Amino acid sequence: MKTILSFANPGEVETECLVAVVLDQSSGNLNNREANPQELSKNTRSEKARAPNDKPEPQVETSNQAVRKAAAEIINTGEFSSKIFEVVMLHRPPGLKANRLLLVGGGKAKNFTGYELRKLAGTAVRFLKPKNIRSFAFVVPENWTGEAKTDAHSTYVSERGGTPDAVKAIVEGAFVGNFDPDTYKSDRKDQLVDELTVIAPDKKEESQVRQAFEEARVIGESQNFTRELVNEPGNRMTPTMLAQRARKMIEQIAGNTPGLKVETFGADKIKELKMGAFWSVAQGSDEPPALIMIRYEPEGAPEKPMLGLVGKGITFDSGGISIKPSDGMEKMKYDMAGGAAMLGAMRAIALLKPKIRVLAIILATENMPSGKAQKPGDVQIAMSGKSIEIINTDAEGRLVLADGLYYARQLGCTHLVDAATLTGACVVALGMVNAGVFSNNEEIFERFTRALQRSGEKMWRMPLDDEYKESIRSSIADIVNSGGRWGGAVTAAMFLKEFAEETPWIHLDIAGTAWMEENKSWIAKGPSGIAVRSLVEFVKDFASGDGAQSGSTNGRTSAGTSNHPAPKRSNS
Ligand code: BES
Ligand code: MN
Ligand code: ZN
Repeated sequence: MKTILSFANPGEVETECLVAVVLDQSSGNLNNREANPQELSKNTRSEKARAPNDKPEPQVETSNQAVRKAAAEIINTGEFSSKIFEVVMLHRPPGLKANRLLLVGGGKAKNFTGYELRKLAGTAVRFLKPKNIRSFAFVVPENWTGEAKTDAHSTYVSERGGTPDAVKAIVEGAFVGNFDPDTYKSDRKDQLVDELTVIAPDKKEESQVRQAFEEARVIGESQNFTRELVNEPGNRMTPTMLAQRARKMIEQIAGNTPGLKVETFGADKIKELKMGAFWSVAQGSDEPPALIMIRYEPEGAPEKPMLGLVGKGITFDSGGISIKPSDGMEKMKYDMAGGAAMLGAMRAIALLKPKIRVLAIILATENMPSGKAQKPGDVQIAMSGKSIEIINTDAEGRLVLADGLYYARQLGCTHLVDAATLTGACVVALGMVNAGVFSNNEEIFERFTRALQRSGEKMWRMPLDDEYKESIRSSIADIVNSGGRWGGAVTAAMFLKEFAEETPWIHLDIAGTAWMEENKSWIAKGPSGIAVRSLVEFVKDFASGDGAQSGSTNGRTSAGTSNHPAPKRSNS
């Protein structure tokens, strides 16, 4: 998708479709009233009790009079209430040069953040695509502070505001909306939007706006690159093929990015490095494993810090000898989503060129049952020398990551982030809304929280208390690879912690968030590309050299102390 940044008068823009955001400016909120015991004693169901504050007051979020006028009639009829994701399309809008005007509702103005704006852009794309509309122009909402105080978000997503962040959210969201997973359909219609124009309100902060615009395109494309990889089935995305795709992607960029290198290794090197935990998973498959390493060492970047991005790349997880039930097993092609996220992030990093060293390590293998496969009860020696009793061959992700984390440290990484579709238990705990985030270090966690604010990706911190370690004790070896049913996401993370040791480390369990179970107005069913945006923001933040204090915006502090923001009641 081609992206164009414009500062023109939206009324004068010739486009197939002009898109404007409509927010509900009313402040009424039934929940608030119900919380008031005096109000409760009244009949809250009567119209009188609801009125007048619950009546929506839709307002088009632009100061442009032509656009507001063109929308006035439908808004005045009350037909369009500006509920989130509500859309209405007007043809030949009076007074505009655009062929059509699409109004998208963003819900209550007081709850509106970049998180919503990103999804509105995706919604516009997905609404227009099947109508054969190939290009459109999005009017950046004005007076948008992003400072919504809302119960809708338990985590600190996108609290920043202003035109640069709005432009970024729109471009990223549009790319997210433009991806479809129907790669192998014979009648694939290739319905893509070819061109997006973003219309900024004025030239204030022009250079920041341009920078945000350029970055967002790179990040959006990289997120979709990850989604393409994750979408491929196991027979078309073997470890060898994943390594080839990584090579191809990096080699295309390397000409313009000095200090960028990719290496891929097979079984021999994995054994030579004594990656006994990684190999224990790979040994059962006829498909050779691949160790994918991407180094980004830009000129002038200091020796330290060096960030290590470690990704789980199980191209198919059958469970191995502890085989999974066949119901839903087909989904286990997405068990390489963590590795694919690292590849997408490296693509964006290599294009955006932050001045910091980054090393990505992706551990790619299938997890299969066979006569050569490891068995429950086997003992394996990890690269670090720790012995692991295999309780369940389906707990394979932590095995490959154990060697990946250790190797990254050996190669000089001072900070680690891993991403993995690691546990079903994380899906039980957090559902498909938040990914799980774990950390052994407050400073790196605060940085990561800041990255989440910028990426608009939802993640919730989970604990790593010492007590959980008891669950992974073994009587024959140093640790077992499965802590059993209770606290399964935590005990898996505790296992990884044994290999991150003292190195500041973030672990992302994306099992519930890497795959969308159904179509949404703003994203297709299928791979989500979760973690790519946060990883890129994290690396950028590190390179900017910002101290721990400088990240809070709008006068609010981020969740940087030892306490995660307390869970808030959800009203959605
Ligand atoms: N890849 C799975 C985790 C998973 C589950 C990802 C559902 C996406 C959706 C992982 O390898 C696995 O099988 N984990 C086991 C661990 C258990 C055996 C300790 C699990 O979660 O059941
Ligand atoms: Mn498994
Ligand atoms: Zn797995």
